[in-house]
Amino acid sequence: MTNPKRYLVTAALPYANGPVHIGHLAGCYLPADIYVRFQRAKKEDILFIGGSDEHGVPITIRAMKEGTTPQQVVDKYHALIKESFEQMGISFDIYSRTSNQIHHETSAAFFRKLYDEGLFEEKESEQYYDEKTNTFLADRYIVGTCPVCANENAYGDQCEKCGTSLSPEQLINPRSTLSDATPVKKKTRHWYFPLQNYEAFLKDWIVNGHPEWKNNVLGQCKSWLDNGLQSRAMTRDSNWGVKVPIEGADGKVLYVWFDAPIGYISATKELTDKWADYWCQEDTKLVHFIGKDNIVFHCIIFPAMLKAHGGFVLPDNVPANEFLNIEGEKVSTSRNWAVWVHEYVQDFPDMQDALRYVLCSNAPETKDNDFTWKDFQDKNNSELVAIFGNFVNRTFVLMHKLCGGKVPAFHTDIADDADKTMMNEFETAAKRVAELIEQFKFRDALFEVIDLARKGNKYMQDKEPWIVAKSLAEKPENQKLIDNCLHICLQLTANLSILINPFLPSIAQKMLYMMKVVDKMLDWENAGKAKLLSVGYSLREPQLLFRKIEDTEITAQVEKLKSGLVKPAAAPVAEAPTSPALKDTIQFDDFAKIDLRVGTIKSAEKVAKADKLLKLEIDLGFEVRTVVSGIALHHNAEEIIGKQVVVVANLAPRKMKGIESNGMILMAEDAEGKLLFVNPDGSGKEGNTVN
Ligand code: MF3
Ligand code: ZN
Repeated sequence: MTNPKRYLVTAALPYANGPVHIGHLAGCYLPADIYVRFQRAKKEDILFIGGSDEHGVPITIRAMKEGTTPQQVVDKYHALIKESFEQMGISFDIYSRTSNQIHHETSAAFFRKLYDEGLFEEKESEQYYDEKTNTFLADRYIVGTCPVCANENAYGDQCEKCGTSLSPEQLINPRSTLSDATPVKKKTRHWYFPLQNYEAFLKDWIVNGHPEWKNNVLGQCKSWLDNGLQSRAMTRDSNWGVKVPIEGADGKVLYVWFDAPIGYISATKELTDKWADYWCQEDTKLVHFIGKDNIVFHCIIFPAMLKAHGGFVLPDNVPANEFLNIEGEKVSTSRNWAVWVHEYVQDFPDMQDALRYVLCSNAPETKDNDFTWKDFQDKNNSELVAIFGNFVNRTFVLMHKLCGGKVPAFHTDIADDADKTMMNEFETAAKRVAELIEQFKFRDALFEVIDLARKGNKYMQDKEPWIVAKSLAEKPENQKLIDNCLHICLQLTANLSILINPFLPSIAQKMLYMMKVVDKMLDWENAGKAKLLSVGYSLREPQLLFRKIEDTEITAQVEKLKSGLVKPAAAPVAEAPTSPALKDTIQFDDFAKIDLRVGTIKSAEKVAKADKLLKLEIDLGFEVRTVVSGIALHHNAEEIIGKQVVVVANLAPRKMKGIESNGMILMAEDAEGKLLFVNPDGSGKEGNTVN
């Protein structure tokens, strides 16, 4: 669409049944945010809509497994996800949620309108039913063997191994995911949306109307259309979701993929009274940012729903990304093979822009891509630090050293070709970046920005103002050469802040601070201008924009990823050992909090009125501790004097039978359940750590 009057940008509503990982960011939130920040800098009228998708089967399953309610599940994850987005600078105008009243009303009214106009088919059919838990098993409530690839854990709506979309009837040996029971067939009534009635419209709209869509998106759409569309049930038997607004439809809710995209509309309503301008005026440019698994819903089903309802704009583009793998393997939330955003933010505080940079420069725009921690380090150190950060830093340092901390004049009389070429680059780069962002080619756009900084480095390297400075005593007129070089480098810095702003907004802010200029300078109309900072204006001392990432930080992350991996349950062994089940996996960081020390038992006595407890005095070298320990049934007080033990030395004190215990000793249980000393052989040095 050329010259839209306003923009409406949405990013897929993540399911509130788990935290978000960096694949989510790279897939849709980061590109959406870059696009929106760019349009805002262009002063376009734009809304950026997001929120949590709080209905659907995965949420009810999770609640059932965790023994809580779906509401508790979504409350927890909605808050966590929202915070993660804020910390990563994803600048939604609203981040709403589909459990809101306004959403229930909006989506129910949408459904009711289609119902009243007779646009649904009402059908009774036999569906799988789990008699143990009294639930109909749609979608992911049911698993079985995939008829295409023989994967034994294919879902009722899709096989994740081969990607085939399935219906529960196609599964071989179906089982209930709730109880493992073999389901039976039972009659139920649902409302189907006849997608085939919209086939002609969709073909024309997509194939003829939007040849500019990304290839990966068009490819999926065409394959759906070529295979022929079918009626799809838009209701489910469940108690969690938007109630079907029809008399006698108790225990039925809207299918989550019916209500969720309407969530974009509800959230806009919640945000502004002017919501209808955005949703109902033809000159709105609606863009849905999503991951590739959402293509059919945003390009086929939702547009058909909007068309059936009438009065709404259709998406102008749906720039879906492919997937981001981690260290060569597909992300798997169930195996915990993922880099979680809330953990990244904790481990790398104030470094959200480094992650934004790497995810954008490696975004899976046309094919699946791989994130590795090594590459994260390399890109940060050799591009952000060594190119961009280095250029800005050198410019500021030299300006303070050689130009008195002020923007030097530009002396046109001595300007040479290199100066002119460099200044022309500002405009060329700004133009290219803008074009590429408009085409959703964010990686290429970001590359242009870094390339401009690279050219700046080269220009400065060729001009060598620090060498020229040495000649000033003999040739004071050479100051002009220095002035010109740093004048250009400073104007380039100003340009870089504008160009980098959509990608790395907090870096742009730091640069503004150093240049002592206000936000307004970041308006895109300033991009490419050669005179942004006025001559004579004094600037601040440089601040470091980026920091180097050390090898140890990277090893720690790789370690964390590998140690967090949940292995598939091992097959039961014939003679299973009787050890109790392992406790939940802890991270290395958790373990590292425990301070284990070698100690020697100096004295031991029975605690009155407690036949299990001994009161021990343990010498830790640096102090003697009182520890109350439950080993009296295993060891006599006299026998253990002089023995060495491993002590948890930083355990919070705890009172037992009136005695304050300051630590805990570690012992091992033998075959008969007797507690054995696991201490070093007696030659350990008190106070030494145990690793
Ligand atoms: N919750 C879905 C997912 O994570 C996305 C929903 S997008 C919406 O795959 F349009 F339906 F909201
Ligand atoms: Zn399969």
